[in-house]
Amino acid sequence: MSQTPAQSADRDDLDETTVLSAYRRWAPVYDAVFGGKFFIGALFGIGRRAVVEAVNRLEGKVLELGVGTGLSLPAYDRRLRLTGIDLCPHMLGVARERVAREQLPHVDGLHQMDAGALTFADRSFDAVAVMFVITVVPHPEQVMAEIARVVRPGGEVVIVSHFAADGGLRGLVERLIVPVTRKLGWRSDFPAARVLGHDEFEAVEVRPLRPFGLFTLIRLRRR
Ligand SMILES: C[S@@+](CC[C@H](N)C(=O)[O-])C[C@H]1O[C@@H](n2cnc3c(N)ncnc32)[C@H](O)[C@@H]1O
Repeated sequence: MSQTPAQSADRDDLDETTVLSAYRRWAPVYDAVFGGKFFIGALFGIGRRAVVEAVNRLEGKVLELGVGTGLSLPAYDRRLRLTGIDLCPHMLGVARERVAREQLPHVDGLHQMDAGALTFADRSFDAVAVMFVITVVPHPEQVMAEIARVVRPGGEVVIVSHFAADGGLRGLVERLIVPVTRKLGWRSDFPAARVLGHDEFEAVEVRPLRPFGLFTLIRLRRR
């Protein structure tokens, strides 16, 4: 039987159990590995700063999907009202400790929630930030549909992630390491088209970030 593109894309997707068990293991060491000033932490920091810089030019209520340990929360402008959600209670536990420790008054709440089944009302946010998450969630198309539902028309979605190269040596390596990256809880072979090909949004910026263009910043506007 033939499959629709969405079914075919979802066929080998990560499942919730894999994601939860991966991030339960990552939670105690996540900030040291992905939030530090050197190596991989420095690269991830560049991506987060690019997203927060774009969001800080906006107004109103912001939803951060897959907020993780809340590494970005202190960097948002205090004018904004922030809500964070994450599937993994262990990652959220670290985020809650950060909010308490750093006393972040612009954070309205952190909730355990699936990005593919948000409990917020339609059009409840002015912007949505998605950092290193869309290639990790079990059902990216469902998550994009939920983002389209909760962001108001004219609102922005700012995404950063690693997206697969179209081909060449990098594309080959990204496909070869799939069995390993799946176990670590992300997809190395995830194309940007899965984020860009949604009628509800127009792309306002697609910018590979220095160095190496390893991560790409994507800004979408809700039609
Ligand atoms: C690579 S971490 C990124 C965390 C954070 N955004 C950052 O910049 O460090 C991916 C996060 O997405 C979360 N996640 C995965 N699937 C999710 C889902 N379906 N709904 C909500 N969060 C999810 C994971 O628990 C994890 O905290």
